[in-house]
Amino acid sequence: MSTNPTLETLLAHRSIRRFTPEKLTSAEVQTLITAAQHAATSTFSQQASVISVTDPAKLAVLGDISGHHWLERAGHYFVFVADQYRNAQLAPANATTTANLHSLDKLLAGIFDATIMTEAVVTAGESLGLGSTIMGSILNDVPRVIDLLDLPELTFPVLGLAIGHPAEQPEHKPRLPQELVHFTNGYQRITPDDPTLVAYNALITRYYQQRTTNQREETFSHHIAAELSRDPQQRAGILTGLRQQGWLRPTDA
Ligand SMILES: Cc1cc2nc3c(=O)[nH]c(=O)nc-3n(C[C@H](O)[C@H](O)[C@H](O)COP(=O)(O)O)c2cc1C
Repeated sequence: MSTNPTLETLLAHRSIRRFTPEKLTSAEVQTLITAAQHAATSTFSQQASVISVTDPAKLAVLGDISGHHWLERAGHYFVFVADQYRNAQLAPANATTTANLHSLDKLLAGIFDATIMTEAVVTAGESLGLGSTIMGSILNDVPRVIDLLDLPELTFPVLGLAIGHPAEQPEHKPRLPQELVHFTNGYQRITPDDPTLVAYNALITRYYQQRTTNQREETFSHHIAAELSRDPQQRAGILTGLRQQGWLRPTDA
């Protein structure tokens, strides 16, 4: 496989959850946001925004919501927001165009943009020696995040990102073999006893047994089963929050 500094950065990725006390400088934050803004954006609509959360009281609330109080010790915290509010203000006063902003299509476009920006910041940060963890767990209580960050109509909090100077170097988590994720000309179905999956399960069992922290006895299949047994009601606030923000109105179907 060929390599270069960009590929080396991408392949060295691991999520970082422990940070040194050093905060990011405003120049570093500006660099990360510049990288985020240069990511591709659906229909060139630039329908995402980023909120830097610096208020310790707000960070503590995000710690409560996500269950990750360690985010308060990160060098910086971002929340990436799907944002059609700004374009609603920019659009000409025309009922049809603004109504479209409430659609599932425009919601997805905002989520795509916010997600792509998040990964751009992760990678830009890693290229600068920073480490980070993306946090979907801010979705544990969407209405509270909306209130906390004073998010207007047609916005939605997509992901949090704790970023800073790493104080740990976790082992790389082995990914699925390529034949299980990359297909040609159509989907390739598997069964639970697929030998490639069985071998990957064994690899993940060894990874969990041998890693330096939080060792456990678990295959990838067990891990997925545990994820799926979480109570779906735990995140019922996602739909409440979407509706609260003006998305998915019955008239937009
Ligand atoms: C959309 C998304 C949401 C995530 N949410 C969380 C989270 O809430 N808490 C957390 O500790 N890690 C979270 N992660 C990080 C994953 O747990 C991590 O990427 C995965 O375990 C693979 O480990 P690695 O990033 O070290 O390779 C999230 C990652 C993604 C892409």
